[in-house]
Amino acid sequence: MSNVIVLTGAGISAESGIKTFRDSNGLWENHRVEDVASPEGFIRNPNLVWDFYKQRYTQSISVEPNGAHLALVKLEKHLGDKFHIITQNVDCLHTRAGSRRIYEMHGRLDSCFCTRCRTHFKIEDIDLAVQLPHCELCGALLRPDIVWFGEIPYYLYEIEELLKNSDYFLIIGTSGVVYPAAGFVMTAKLFGAHTIGINLEKPDNMGFFDEFHLGKCGELLPPIVDEMIKHL
Ligand code: OAD
Repeated sequence: MSNVIVLTGAGISAESGIKTFRDSNGLWENHRVEDVASPEGFIRNPNLVWDFYKQRYTQSISVEPNGAHLALVKLEKHLGDKFHIITQNVDCLHTRAGSRRIYEMHGRLDSCFCTRCRTHFKIEDIDLAVQLPHCELCGALLRPDIVWFGEIPYYLYEIEELLKNSDYFLIIGTSGVVYPAAGFVMTAKLFGAHTIGINLEKPDNMGFFDEFHLGKCGELLPPIVDEMIKHL
């Protein structure tokens, strides 16, 4: 059976009601990215950053996975260990939809960790009414478990192994602008994968796609998955 690897970006959650980044003119929910998504921004104004991620977390649990997330769950049920998702999204909608083999390379909104002892906590176990949450073990400031600009994404070693061994690489709802994720299609293609893009507009790294489907992934992905299930 073939190995199928999927890379998802903000576009897969758009039909659930979460705004993408590029659609907001480089702003993230009206904030400058360097203010809310960089270590320097956190040092400058931890109150603002914590308020921002508390809101993002609350928003993420108020929306539901859509047909594209569910199509990927169906494909995983069919392929088992031969299927993995790499996501740039932090909204946890793949997990809530029922996907299991997921690498959340930019972190997740439902988690935070201590800036000193690095212990991780679930956001649901934190008192969000407290302006700046602190570690119950060592007392230091907690921070959101999000990979900010200038930080190294999670699971890069595991991801590289997946890409080298993929037969099909699907790239869904991502603008192909932010590296290293934007370069994954090139690696997968160089190692022999058939690469398939699904996006509302042409992404920047289009040159490495063998196949491209223009439109909404909530509509396009379910029939593509059904076809794959027939043949894989
Ligand atoms: P972007 O906002 O850059 O791109 C989203 C893409 O999804 C765009 O190309 C849209 O055209 C497309 N899109 C929108 N709605 C769609 C739909 N219904 N179906 C299919 N495609 C749709 O988001 P990402 O590429 O995920 O980093 O951004 C990458 C990273 O940049 C993010 O993970 C984030 C950001 O700064 C961090 O948070 C570290």
